[in-house]
Amino acid sequence: MSERTLILLKPDAVRRGLVGEILSRYERKGLALVALEFRTIDAGTADEHYAEHVDKDFYPPLRDFVTSGPMVAGVLEGDQAVEVVRALNGATDGRKAAPGTIRGDLALSNRENLVHGSDSPESAAREIALWFPKLS
Ligand code: CMP
Repeated sequence: MSERTLILLKPDAVRRGLVGEILSRYERKGLALVALEFRTIDAGTADEHYAEHVDKDFYPPLRDFVTSGPMVAGVLEGDQAVEVVRALNGATDGRKAAPGTIRGDLALSNRENLVHGSDSPESAAREIALWFPKLS
């Protein structure tokens, strides 16, 4: 079933010049970009986006990281887009992510792991409403 998911190309992806490489992987898979924007977020938006993580030990440095520079935010659409994007992204920790995935091929960190993808259709709906409120 066709669905939508939110992607974030985090500040490390922009700084390392990997935006084209990463977007190309999603597009080559057959997913369609239906929104795409350069965005620099403040701490409040980071807290809203990562509401389920704000009390965790790893969150303060994560907030510093995601507010440290521009990100590329987008919405991808396609059959089972949430699960497909998570598979393309690979495991959270780039050191453990399988080769062939974005993180497995390009990241070596648990925090600076290049990309975010919504973890469920419910999260996707919440995150798309937060990042792209005009996209109904
Ligand atoms: P993301 O998919 O955006 O969802 C939560 C983010 O928190 C995750 O990617 C990582 O960037 C970060 N993260 C998750 N677990 C850890 C951890 N143990 N240490 C540092 N950062 C983490």
